[in-house]
Amino acid sequence: MKVLVIGNGGREHAIAWKLSLSPKLTRLYVAPGNGGTASIAVNVDIPAKDIEGLLKFCKKEGIDLVVVGPEAPLTEGIVDRFRAEGLRIFGPDRYGAQLEGSKAFSKDLMRKLGIPTADFEVFDSPEKAMDDVARKGVPIVVKVDGLAGGKGVTVATSMPKAMEAIHLAMVKKVFGKAGERVVIEECLEGDEASVIAVTDGKTVRLLASSQDHKRAHDGDQGPNTGGMGSYSPAPIVSAELEKELLDKVFYPIVRDFAASGRPYTGFIFAGLMLTPKGYRVLEFNARLGDPETQVILPRLRTDLLEVLDAAASGRLADVELGWSDEDCVCVVMVAGGYPGDYETGKRISGLSEAERVPGLQVFHAGTRLDGTTLVTAGGRVLNIVGRGRGILEALSATYAAVDKVFFEGMYYRKDIAHRATRAKAAR
Ligand code: AMP
Ligand code: GLY
Repeated sequence: MKVLVIGNGGREHAIAWKLSLSPKLTRLYVAPGNGGTASIAVNVDIPAKDIEGLLKFCKKEGIDLVVVGPEAPLTEGIVDRFRAEGLRIFGPDRYGAQLEGSKAFSKDLMRKLGIPTADFEVFDSPEKAMDDVARKGVPIVVKVDGLAGGKGVTVATSMPKAMEAIHLAMVKKVFGKAGERVVIEECLEGDEASVIAVTDGKTVRLLASSQDHKRAHDGDQGPNTGGMGSYSPAPIVSAELEKELLDKVFYPIVRDFAASGRPYTGFIFAGLMLTPKGYRVLEFNARLGDPETQVILPRLRTDLLEVLDAAASGRLADVELGWSDEDCVCVVMVAGGYPGDYETGKRISGLSEAERVPGLQVFHAGTRLDGTTLVTAGGRVLNIVGRGRGILEALSATYAAVDKVFFEGMYYRKDIAHRATRAKAAR
């Protein structure tokens, strides 16, 4: 099969790497890809948002299956467009992608299906939103309805902060249309974890659980980022919880979409908080997580192309997913200054030494080849992924490899998986 992966991050490198191991693969393309995907696939210089350009390429090359990494093309309707032209593409259509693209849509769906989630109300007037916050008090959570690149959620611990979040979104419109509506939500406390499912519209299969680290600095301090690290499995996600999520979250959603005549095909990512009162779904994404994918796929024993091909054809019931019982850890190495301003074009060294650590995987994010030299090209630069028997062995492999890598100004967290190691110490 000829396959095209759309995207250019660590997630897409991990997807491409796993697909490259499939005996069913004949040719692999990544658009636009990065310095890492260039070594396992053909990078195609078309941006993920250029739907017409991608369509033209797929027709010309006779691509058998398209796999979409990021959310933006999904919410813009890439799947509808490709299907209308008779191309096979894996992911939800524009309607289904609202699960991620509109918080109001996903919260209303959760309420309708009785899925546990934080109490909420949706507002399209700033005055009413502010009245609601004034009535309820802090802490409170303000979320813009649409896609905001991970910056649309404010957990406000003071009244001015909550009011400012509403003002910025709805009056100043700093998120454009995405902020015209806001969701005001009860503030929850607990540990977070991610559980991702794959579905063909009828059958649901769960991927291994994981947890990411969103804050820039050790001890979960500092600004939010696209993700500084991750690990899988997440020990706080028990087999009982997985069963509950399958029965009470994922199947009800998939059946509801099917009953409405718009079956959902693709990944469903549930961001969870485990509160003292039980789990709550914080959000859904309509795609794989980044950097969760980087620790999930190395643990998958099943052929990913077989899984996606089956899911895209309504045959997922025929496929069972097998998982390695090793733990996997990802440390994201970023450019100094990220998530604020940072420099690019820094030469990267030590990757071949890092890759000599047994079982180690390096997934590139912001890298590119400058001639034959690998240089930095983004904020999140590299994902160093190690594995081992148990979290401690996985951590020591990962950080041993991190130690070999160098680029000017590099920064990374030194406490990835601290919650899992604490859980282990407590046992
Ligand atoms: P989301 O994009 O909805 O996952 O939100 C991003 C982050 O904001 C989550 O990972 C949580 O850390 C935090 N968050 C979201 N909703 C809530 C909530 N209701 N209570 C407390 N924290 C939240
Ligand atoms: N790591 C969270 C996300 O991909 O949205």
